[in-house]
Amino acid sequence: MIITIDGPAGSGKSAVAQMLARRLGIQHLDTGAMYRAVTLDAMEQGIIDNPSAIARRARRLRLAFDFSVTPAQLKMDGRNVSENIRRPDVTQWTYVAADNPSVRAELVRRQRQIAAQVGSLVAEGRDQGTVVFPDAENKFYLDADIRERARRRTAQLRSQGISADERDVLPQLQQRDDCDRTRQTGALVMPSDAIVIDTTSMSREEVVAAIISRLRRSVHP
Ligand code: DC
Repeated sequence: MIITIDGPAGSGKSAVAQMLARRLGIQHLDTGAMYRAVTLDAMEQGIIDNPSAIARRARRLRLAFDFSVTPAQLKMDGRNVSENIRRPDVTQWTYVAADNPSVRAELVRRQRQIAAQVGSLVAEGRDQGTVVFPDAENKFYLDADIRERARRRTAQLRSQGISADERDVLPQLQQRDDCDRTRQTGALVMPSDAIVIDTTSMSREEVVAAIISRLRRSVHP
């Protein structure tokens, strides 16, 4: 069973996907982490302004999720990069990897490969229901008011010990939304067959409960 969860930054999809996967006893595939890892590698290699070099590295880079721990750890060439890929400077540059069609083609191929290996998963990102798993049985699209998304993102940064102000975070989110929605391949689009959940005034638990109830209805209509 493949469940896709797409949506903009701050819509709550990461936490929800993680919690949902745990409740269902299946894996959570955080595809944003893969774009972040390619970006971190490009920054470390000093090739962030060279799209063809980034694509070449992406094809050779070993990316492996360790699903034996929760949340799954991402290893890049054997090194655990789960924390480094969340750094604000990596977040700021990730559009470079996400906008690169050759990187996308490579990561889409790997995401399908992981799904074939593990069988069932909650695949979370921007293009999971549209491009990567268009035949998934259960697609969800999470959204939330941008002010609420900015509030959540600010709280998340502060919990990582990073000082943040909602007034700065909101325009940054708007910029990321524009990037995500207008990229030529793999743009953030609501899949036409997805169930849309507005999470603005919902807790994570409520969103997970809503998804599980939809899943039950799709099994026993
Ligand atoms: O979900 P996130 O914030 O960790 O994603 C990081 C970046 O990667 C974000 O700017 C959008 C991009 N991304 C993407 O283009 N396609 C995906 N399937 C997942 C993330």
